[in-house]
Amino acid sequence: MKKKETEKLLRELTDVCAPTGFEGPVRAIVNQHLYPLCQDIYVDGIGSLIAQFNTRHDSKPNVMVAAHMDEVGLMVKYITEDGYLKFQTIGGWLDQALINQRWIIRTKKGLVKGITGIKTPHVIPAETRGQIFKKEQMFIDVGASNKEDAVNRLGISPGDPIAPDSLFTNLNGGSLYLGKAWDDRIGLAVMIQVASNLRGADISNNLYLVSTVQEEVGLRGAQTSSYLVEPDIGINLESGVAGDYPGSTLDESQEKLGEGPAIFLHDSSMIPNLKLRDFVLKVADEEKIPIQFDVLSGYGQDGAEIQRARGGSPSINIAIPTRYLHSHNGVISIEDFDSAVKLVTSLIQRLDADTVREIRKFELE
Ligand code: CO
Repeated sequence: MKKKETEKLLRELTDVCAPTGFEGPVRAIVNQHLYPLCQDIYVDGIGSLIAQFNTRHDSKPNVMVAAHMDEVGLMVKYITEDGYLKFQTIGGWLDQALINQRWIIRTKKGLVKGITGIKTPHVIPAETRGQIFKKEQMFIDVGASNKEDAVNRLGISPGDPIAPDSLFTNLNGGSLYLGKAWDDRIGLAVMIQVASNLRGADISNNLYLVSTVQEEVGLRGAQTSSYLVEPDIGINLESGVAGDYPGSTLDESQEKLGEGPAIFLHDSSMIPNLKLRDFVLKVADEEKIPIQFDVLSGYGQDGAEIQRARGGSPSINIAIPTRYLHSHNGVISIEDFDSAVKLVTSLIQRLDADTVREIRKFELE
């Protein structure tokens, strides 16, 4: 994929406001890209988009590739009498990452800008200036003169979704890109590019490209969509956890930007199937694709639901290293994106019935 086209796709996917439970605008973008490339495309009962890439044959194994559409955000809880918004966080946020930021609120009248204000240091006593601001004390200022103004003029209602206001941009000319919501729009971008690479190809599996909802609040969309897909193999695409900046330690995370996609060997939701892991490593080696590993003690991802759907299936999580996840400003490397696309394309091309049968077989002696 040409760099300009990749940039266009990444910008389109990351700029859109679509927190957990409000994935509609992302679903529309993914549908626009995948519909012309796929045999069939449908939505499950809670909103995950299931794209059946090729004509299904019972003799072929079902391969499910998944990435999640939602991003961490906020939701309007209530509007104060003087027109400020109190909010509920959606997904995992550090309180410090919330304060003094710009936000976009999606209302029935369109997009509204707001900020989480912060007290000026002039009024904070010296001994409390080092304290952390708690999210419960925060509010969003939308410039409304009172509650009625916020409701009637701006169209704000309780339940409206709120996302970071932070636009995609290249980080000073190199291969790094800055934006919000890499988690997990970068996974969706890989999926879309893989589908585009495979356009018209005769592949030896029934390929399902699944864009899930509500990952950030407990892998909910992966649960329902994998029930429908009945995967024989699961490949989840995620944003990884780069640990290559000051203050970050190898014990926390082992990924570095620019050193290739990361294979998760452990996270708190899943351990990958060992034969599938080794198959991925073999393919990466043959195709000369750089690979790194990550062992995390926290973190959950959709692969865990794919792995446990119905009778269970060998699954793996492949991640694009990302700095500063779950904040207004994440950073990825386009080289890792390209390597991940190449890896996943190669995996799909090789997952035929014999290979999948061998991966799924557990030795009994
Ligand atoms: Co994620």
